[in-house]
Amino acid sequence: MSFSILGTGSALPSRVVTNEDLSLLVDTSDEWIKTRTGITERRVCTEESITELAVQAAQKALEDSGCSADELDLIICATMSADYTTPSMACVLQMQLGASCPAFDINAACTGFLYALDVAAGYFARTADQKILVVAAEAMSRLVDWQDRGTCVLFGDGAGAAVLGKGNDLLAIQTGAKGNISSLYAENGWGNSPFHKQAEGDVASGCSSYLHMDGQEVFRFAVTSMVQTVEQVLDEAGLAKEDIAWLIPHQANIRILDSAISRLKLPKEKCLTNIAVRGNTSAACVAILLDEASRGGKLKKNDLLALTAFGGGLTTGACILRWSR
Ligand SMILES: CC(C)(COP(=O)(O)OP(=O)(O)OC[C@H]1O[C@@H](n2cnc3c(N)ncnc32)[C@H](O)[C@@H]1OP(=O)(O)O)[C@@H](O)C(=O)NCCC(=O)NCCS
Repeated sequence: MSFSILGTGSALPSRVVTNEDLSLLVDTSDEWIKTRTGITERRVCTEESITELAVQAAQKALEDSGCSADELDLIICATMSADYTTPSMACVLQMQLGASCPAFDINAACTGFLYALDVAAGYFARTADQKILVVAAEAMSRLVDWQDRGTCVLFGDGAGAAVLGKGNDLLAIQTGAKGNISSLYAENGWGNSPFHKQAEGDVASGCSSYLHMDGQEVFRFAVTSMVQTVEQVLDEAGLAKEDIAWLIPHQANIRILDSAISRLKLPKEKCLTNIAVRGNTSAACVAILLDEASRGGKLKKNDLLALTAFGGGLTTGACILRWSR
Protein backbone atom coordinates (compact mmCIF):
# COMPACT_ATOMS: atom_id res chain seq x y z
CA MET A 1 0.00 0.00 0.00
CA SER A 2 1.42 3.39 -0.97
CA PHE A 3 -0.56 6.26 -2.47
CA SER A 4 -2.21 7.59 -5.60
CA ILE A 5 -2.24 11.19 -6.75
CA LEU A 6 -5.82 12.45 -6.56
CA GLY A 7 -5.26 16.03 -7.72
CA THR A 8 -2.59 18.64 -8.43
CA GLY A 9 -2.33 22.42 -8.43
CA SER A 10 0.19 25.20 -8.86
CA ALA A 11 0.44 28.96 -8.51
CA LEU A 12 2.94 31.54 -9.74
CA PRO A 13 3.59 35.20 -9.04
CA SER A 14 2.21 37.52 -11.73
CA ARG A 15 5.49 39.38 -12.37
CA VAL A 16 7.51 37.99 -15.28
CA VAL A 17 11.22 38.83 -15.09
CA THR A 18 12.95 38.41 -18.44
CA ASN A 19 16.64 37.95 -19.17
CA GLU A 20 16.58 41.49 -20.56
CA ASP A 21 15.28 42.73 -17.19
CA LEU A 22 18.22 41.01 -15.47
CA SER A 23 20.74 42.49 -17.88
CA LEU A 24 19.76 45.88 -16.41
CA LEU A 25 20.67 44.64 -12.92
CA VAL A 26 23.88 42.63 -13.48
CA ASP A 27 26.50 42.17 -16.21
CA THR A 28 24.71 39.46 -18.22
CA SER A 29 22.79 39.01 -21.46
CA ASP A 30 19.77 37.15 -22.84
CA GLU A 31 22.15 35.24 -25.10
CA TRP A 32 24.39 34.04 -22.20
CA ILE A 33 21.50 32.98 -19.98
CA LYS A 34 19.62 31.19 -22.77
CA THR A 35 22.58 29.26 -24.11
CA ARG A 36 24.11 28.37 -20.71
CA THR A 37 20.87 27.54 -18.87
CA GLY A 38 17.86 27.36 -21.24
CA ILE A 39 16.05 30.03 -19.23
CA THR A 40 14.27 32.92 -20.96
CA GLU A 41 12.12 34.24 -18.12
CA ARG A 42 11.01 33.41 -14.59
CA ARG A 43 8.26 34.55 -12.19
CA VAL A 44 9.21 36.60 -9.14
CA CYS A 45 7.10 37.60 -6.13
CA THR A 46 6.30 41.30 -5.84
CA GLU A 47 3.17 41.79 -3.74
CA GLU A 48 2.34 38.08 -3.33
CA SER A 49 3.73 36.21 -0.35
CA ILE A 50 4.96 32.65 -0.86
CA THR A 51 2.31 31.53 1.63
CA GLU A 52 -0.40 33.01 -0.60
CA LEU A 53 0.94 31.07 -3.57
CA ALA A 54 1.13 27.89 -1.48
CA VAL A 55 -2.52 28.36 -0.46
CA GLN A 56 -3.60 28.92 -4.07
CA ALA A 57 -1.72 25.82 -5.27
CA ALA A 58 -3.23 23.76 -2.44
CA GLN A 59 -6.76 24.99 -3.17
CA LYS A 60 -6.40 24.08 -6.84
CA ALA A 61 -5.09 20.61 -5.91
CA LEU A 62 -8.00 20.09 -3.51
CA GLU A 63 -10.49 21.19 -6.16
CA ASP A 64 -8.84 18.92 -8.74
CA SER A 65 -9.04 15.96 -6.35
CA GLY A 66 -12.64 16.56 -5.30
CA CYS A 67 -11.54 16.55 -1.64
CA SER A 68 -12.29 19.19 0.94
CA ALA A 69 -9.75 20.59 3.39
CA ASP A 70 -11.50 18.95 6.35
CA GLU A 71 -10.84 15.51 4.83
CA LEU A 72 -7.07 16.03 5.05
CA ASP A 73 -5.21 13.85 7.56
CA LEU A 74 -1.83 15.56 7.15
CA ILE A 75 -0.20 18.57 5.46
CA ILE A 76 3.50 18.48 4.53
CA CYS A 77 5.21 21.52 3.03
CA ALA A 78 8.61 21.33 1.36
CA THR A 79 10.32 24.70 1.55
CA MET A 80 13.51 26.48 2.57
CA SER A 81 12.21 29.98 1.96
CA ALA A 82 8.98 30.22 3.97
CA ASP A 83 7.59 33.52 5.23
CA TYR A 84 8.09 32.41 8.82
CA THR A 85 10.65 30.28 10.61
CA THR A 86 7.80 29.51 12.97
CA PRO A 87 4.94 28.80 12.50
CA SER A 88 5.74 26.41 9.70
CA MET A 89 4.28 27.11 6.28
CA ALA A 90 2.21 23.94 6.70
CA CYS A 91 0.59 25.30 9.88
CA VAL A 92 -0.26 28.61 8.20
CA LEU A 93 -1.70 26.66 5.30
CA GLN A 94 -3.74 24.46 7.64
CA MET A 95 -5.27 27.60 9.17
CA GLN A 96 -5.96 29.29 5.84
CA LEU A 97 -7.42 26.19 4.19
CA GLY A 98 -9.61 25.45 7.21
CA ALA A 99 -8.07 22.01 7.81
CA SER A 100 -7.58 20.51 11.26
CA CYS A 101 -4.88 17.86 10.72
CA PRO A 102 -1.22 17.72 11.80
CA ALA A 103 1.06 19.89 9.67
CA PHE A 104 4.81 20.36 9.33
CA ASP A 105 7.53 21.57 6.96
CA ILE A 106 10.52 19.71 5.65
CA ASN A 107 13.68 21.18 4.14
CA ALA A 108 15.53 19.08 1.59
CA ALA A 109 16.25 22.08 -0.66
CA CYS A 110 15.34 21.40 -4.31
CA THR A 111 14.65 17.72 -3.54
CA GLY A 112 11.95 18.69 -1.03
CA PHE A 113 8.94 17.50 -3.05
CA LEU A 114 10.45 14.03 -3.49
CA TYR A 115 11.32 13.83 0.21
CA ALA A 116 7.77 14.93 1.09
CA LEU A 117 6.31 12.18 -1.12
CA ASP A 118 8.55 9.65 0.64
CA VAL A 119 7.46 10.88 4.08
CA ALA A 120 3.81 10.75 2.97
CA ALA A 121 4.28 7.15 1.78
CA GLY A 122 5.56 6.31 5.26
CA TYR A 123 2.47 7.86 6.88
CA PHE A 124 0.15 5.91 4.58
CA ALA A 125 1.99 2.69 5.43
CA ARG A 126 2.09 3.29 9.18
CA THR A 127 -1.21 5.06 9.96
CA ALA A 128 -4.86 5.07 8.99
CA ASP A 129 -4.36 8.33 7.06
CA GLN A 130 -6.48 8.49 3.90
CA LYS A 131 -5.62 11.92 2.43
CA ILE A 132 -2.36 13.86 2.59
CA LEU A 133 -1.66 17.27 1.07
CA VAL A 134 1.91 17.84 -0.11
CA VAL A 135 2.89 21.39 -1.07
CA ALA A 136 6.26 22.57 -2.36
CA ALA A 137 6.65 26.34 -2.38
CA GLU A 138 9.71 28.54 -2.70
CA ALA A 139 10.44 32.25 -2.81
CA MET A 140 13.96 31.90 -4.15
CA SER A 141 13.97 35.66 -4.82
CA ARG A 142 14.31 36.00 -1.03
CA LEU A 143 17.49 33.89 -0.95
CA VAL A 144 19.45 34.92 -4.04
CA ASP A 145 21.89 37.81 -4.18
CA TRP A 146 20.46 40.02 -6.91
CA GLN A 147 23.95 41.40 -7.51
CA ASP A 148 25.46 37.96 -8.21
CA ARG A 149 25.03 37.11 -11.89
CA GLY A 150 26.16 33.54 -11.24
CA THR A 151 23.01 32.74 -9.26
CA CYS A 152 20.28 35.38 -9.68
CA VAL A 153 19.64 34.46 -13.32
CA LEU A 154 18.83 30.84 -12.43
CA PHE A 155 15.97 30.99 -9.96
CA GLY A 156 12.27 31.82 -9.82
CA ASP A 157 9.38 31.71 -7.33
CA GLY A 158 6.31 29.46 -7.31
CA ALA A 159 4.29 26.74 -5.63
CA GLY A 160 3.03 23.29 -6.58
CA ALA A 161 0.78 20.90 -4.69
CA ALA A 162 -0.61 17.38 -4.81
CA VAL A 163 -3.40 15.69 -2.87
CA LEU A 164 -2.49 12.07 -2.19
CA GLY A 165 -4.90 9.30 -1.29
CA LYS A 166 -4.18 5.80 -0.04
CA GLY A 167 -3.45 3.68 -3.12
CA ASN A 168 -0.90 1.62 -5.03
CA ASP A 169 0.63 3.99 -7.55
CA LEU A 170 3.99 4.72 -5.94
CA LEU A 171 6.03 1.86 -7.40
CA ALA A 172 9.45 2.88 -6.05
CA ILE A 173 11.03 5.82 -4.27
CA GLN A 174 14.53 6.69 -3.08
CA THR A 175 15.97 9.66 -1.27
CA GLY A 176 19.60 10.33 -0.50
CA ALA A 177 22.01 12.90 0.88
CA LYS A 178 25.71 13.50 0.63
CA GLY A 179 26.50 15.94 3.42
CA ASN A 180 28.16 18.98 1.91
CA ILE A 181 28.14 22.67 2.84
CA SER A 182 30.47 24.25 0.33
CA SER A 183 28.70 23.53 -2.99
CA LEU A 184 25.39 25.20 -2.24
CA TYR A 185 24.46 27.01 0.94
CA ALA A 186 22.64 29.95 2.48
CA GLU A 187 23.37 30.48 6.16
CA ASN A 188 21.27 31.93 8.96
CA GLY A 189 22.57 34.89 10.92
CA TRP A 190 22.98 34.96 14.71
CA GLY A 191 20.37 37.65 15.26
CA ASN A 192 21.44 40.06 17.98
CA SER A 193 22.89 37.51 20.39
CA PRO A 194 25.37 39.41 22.55
CA PHE A 195 27.05 36.07 23.32
CA HIS A 196 27.87 34.94 19.81
CA LYS A 197 31.56 34.99 18.94
CA GLN A 198 32.60 34.91 15.33
CA ALA A 199 35.41 32.42 14.80
CA GLU A 200 38.05 33.25 12.23
CA GLY A 201 37.62 31.16 9.07
CA ASP A 202 34.30 29.80 10.31
CA VAL A 203 32.11 29.14 7.26
CA ALA A 204 29.01 29.58 9.38
CA SER A 205 29.74 33.09 10.51
CA GLY A 206 30.30 36.47 9.04
CA CYS A 207 29.00 35.64 5.53
CA SER A 208 25.91 37.09 3.92
CA SER A 209 22.75 35.02 4.15
CA TYR A 210 22.44 34.85 0.35
CA LEU A 211 22.64 31.63 -1.60
CA HIS A 212 26.22 30.69 -2.50
CA MET A 213 26.90 28.12 -5.17
CA ASP A 214 29.76 26.37 -6.90
CA GLY A 215 27.95 26.03 -10.21
CA GLN A 216 30.28 23.58 -11.91
CA GLU A 217 30.46 21.24 -8.92
CA VAL A 218 26.66 21.22 -8.60
CA PHE A 219 26.37 20.65 -12.35
CA ARG A 220 28.53 17.51 -12.19
CA PHE A 221 26.71 16.21 -9.11
CA ALA A 222 23.34 16.88 -10.76
CA VAL A 223 24.00 14.89 -13.93
CA THR A 224 25.50 11.91 -12.11
CA SER A 225 22.80 11.81 -9.45
CA MET A 226 19.92 12.14 -11.93
CA VAL A 227 21.19 9.18 -13.91
CA GLN A 228 21.92 7.04 -10.84
CA THR A 229 18.67 7.72 -8.99
CA VAL A 230 16.44 7.12 -12.02
CA GLU A 231 18.25 3.84 -12.75
CA GLN A 232 17.91 2.82 -9.09
CA VAL A 233 14.15 3.40 -8.88
CA LEU A 234 13.60 1.66 -12.22
CA ASP A 235 15.52 -1.33 -10.85
CA GLU A 236 13.56 -1.26 -7.59
CA ALA A 237 10.27 -1.22 -9.51
CA GLY A 238 11.47 -3.99 -11.86
CA LEU A 239 11.01 -1.74 -14.89
CA ALA A 240 13.06 -0.84 -17.97
CA LYS A 241 13.78 2.66 -19.28
CA GLU A 242 11.41 2.03 -22.18
CA ASP A 243 8.54 1.67 -19.69
CA ILE A 244 8.78 5.34 -18.68
CA ALA A 245 6.16 7.50 -20.39
CA TRP A 246 7.48 10.78 -18.97
CA LEU A 247 10.56 11.93 -17.09
CA ILE A 248 9.61 14.82 -14.78
CA PRO A 249 12.91 16.22 -13.54
CA HIS A 250 14.06 19.11 -11.39
CA GLN A 251 14.54 22.19 -13.57
CA ALA A 252 17.99 23.59 -12.84
CA ASN A 253 19.67 23.88 -16.22
CA ILE A 254 18.62 22.56 -19.64
CA ARG A 255 22.21 21.38 -20.19
CA ILE A 256 21.98 19.22 -17.05
CA LEU A 257 18.79 17.67 -18.43
CA ASP A 258 20.25 17.12 -21.92
CA SER A 259 23.31 15.47 -20.49
CA ALA A 260 21.37 13.21 -18.09
CA ILE A 261 18.85 12.18 -20.76
CA SER A 262 21.58 11.27 -23.17
CA ARG A 263 23.36 9.17 -20.50
CA LEU A 264 20.07 7.51 -19.60
CA LYS A 265 19.53 6.86 -23.33
CA LEU A 266 16.00 8.20 -23.12
CA PRO A 267 14.32 9.95 -26.06
CA LYS A 268 14.42 13.73 -25.48
CA GLU A 269 10.67 14.03 -26.15
CA LYS A 270 9.98 11.99 -23.00
CA CYS A 271 11.56 14.62 -20.77
CA LEU A 272 9.12 17.30 -19.66
CA THR A 273 10.54 20.76 -19.08
CA ASN A 274 9.32 24.25 -18.31
CA ILE A 275 12.66 25.78 -17.33
CA ALA A 276 12.48 28.27 -20.20
CA VAL A 277 9.61 30.13 -18.56
CA ARG A 278 9.84 29.13 -14.87
CA GLY A 279 13.57 28.95 -14.08
CA ASN A 280 14.56 26.93 -11.04
CA THR A 281 11.85 27.17 -8.38
CA SER A 282 13.73 24.75 -6.11
CA ALA A 283 11.44 22.25 -4.34
CA ALA A 284 8.46 23.55 -6.32
CA CYS A 285 9.91 22.62 -9.76
CA VAL A 286 8.75 19.01 -9.96
CA ALA A 287 5.37 19.79 -8.36
CA ILE A 288 4.67 22.65 -10.78
CA LEU A 289 5.81 20.63 -13.79
CA LEU A 290 3.61 17.70 -12.75
CA ASP A 291 0.59 19.98 -12.44
CA GLU A 292 1.25 21.70 -15.76
CA ALA A 293 1.67 18.32 -17.49
CA SER A 294 -1.58 17.07 -15.96
CA ARG A 295 -3.59 20.16 -16.82
CA GLY A 296 -1.99 20.33 -20.27
CA GLY A 297 -3.42 16.86 -21.02
CA LYS A 298 0.01 15.23 -21.45
CA LEU A 299 -0.45 12.50 -18.86
CA LYS A 300 -2.59 9.53 -19.86
CA LYS A 301 -4.12 6.93 -17.56
CA ASN A 302 -1.55 4.31 -16.51
CA ASP A 303 1.43 6.31 -17.78
CA LEU A 304 4.55 5.56 -15.74
CA LEU A 305 6.26 8.74 -14.55
CA ALA A 306 9.84 9.05 -13.32
CA LEU A 307 10.23 12.04 -11.00
CA THR A 308 13.75 13.07 -10.06
CA ALA A 309 15.42 15.95 -8.22
CA PHE A 310 18.69 17.04 -6.62
CA GLY A 311 19.67 20.05 -4.58
CA GLY A 312 21.45 21.64 -1.64
CA GLY A 313 22.56 19.22 1.01
CA LEU A 314 23.53 17.69 -1.34
CA THR A 315 20.26 15.81 -1.59
CA THR A 316 18.82 13.52 -4.24
CA GLY A 317 15.50 11.82 -4.81
CA ALA A 318 13.60 9.90 -7.47
CA CYS A 319 10.43 7.87 -7.74
CA ILE A 320 8.31 5.91 -10.18
CA LEU A 321 4.62 6.75 -10.11
CA ARG A 322 1.75 5.28 -12.04
CA TRP A 323 -0.63 8.00 -13.24
CA SER A 324 -4.00 6.39 -12.63
CA ARG A 325 -6.32 9.36 -12.97
C1 LIG B 1 25.74 28.27 -12.96
C2 LIG B 1 25.98 27.77 -14.37
C3 LIG B 1 24.82 28.16 -15.27
C4 LIG B 1 27.25 28.43 -14.92
O1 LIG B 1 27.49 27.96 -16.22
P1 LIG B 1 28.96 27.53 -16.64
O2 LIG B 1 28.90 27.17 -18.07
O3 LIG B 1 29.41 26.48 -15.66
O4 LIG B 1 29.74 28.85 -16.47
P2 LIG B 1 31.04 29.14 -15.57
O5 LIG B 1 30.68 29.09 -14.13
O6 LIG B 1 32.15 28.26 -16.07
O7 LIG B 1 31.35 30.62 -15.97
C5 LIG B 1 31.80 30.93 -17.28
C6 LIG B 1 31.94 32.42 -17.36
O8 LIG B 1 30.63 33.02 -17.41
C7 LIG B 1 30.54 34.04 -16.42
N1 LIG B 1 29.18 34.13 -15.97
C8 LIG B 1 28.58 33.52 -14.91
N2 LIG B 1 27.30 33.89 -14.85
C9 LIG B 1 27.07 34.72 -15.88
C10 LIG B 1 25.95 35.42 -16.32
N3 LIG B 1 24.75 35.34 -15.71
N4 LIG B 1 26.07 36.20 -17.43
C11 LIG B 1 27.24 36.31 -18.07
N5 LIG B 1 28.35 35.67 -17.67
C12 LIG B 1 28.27 34.89 -16.60
C13 LIG B 1 31.50 33.61 -15.34
O9 LIG B 1 31.90 34.73 -14.56
C14 LIG B 1 32.64 33.04 -16.15
O10 LIG B 1 33.41 34.11 -16.61
P3 LIG B 1 35.01 33.96 -16.75
O11 LIG B 1 35.23 32.85 -17.70
O12 LIG B 1 35.41 35.30 -17.24
O13 LIG B 1 35.47 33.65 -15.35
C15 LIG B 1 26.15 26.22 -14.40
O14 LIG B 1 27.38 25.88 -13.80
C16 LIG B 1 25.05 25.49 -13.68
O15 LIG B 1 23.91 25.52 -14.08
N6 LIG B 1 25.38 24.80 -12.60
C17 LIG B 1 24.40 24.04 -11.83
C18 LIG B 1 23.64 24.99 -10.97
C19 LIG B 1 22.44 24.36 -10.34
O16 LIG B 1 21.94 23.38 -10.79
N7 LIG B 1 22.01 24.97 -9.24
C20 LIG B 1 20.83 24.57 -8.56
C21 LIG B 1 20.96 23.29 -7.88
S1 LIG B 1 19.44 22.79 -7.28
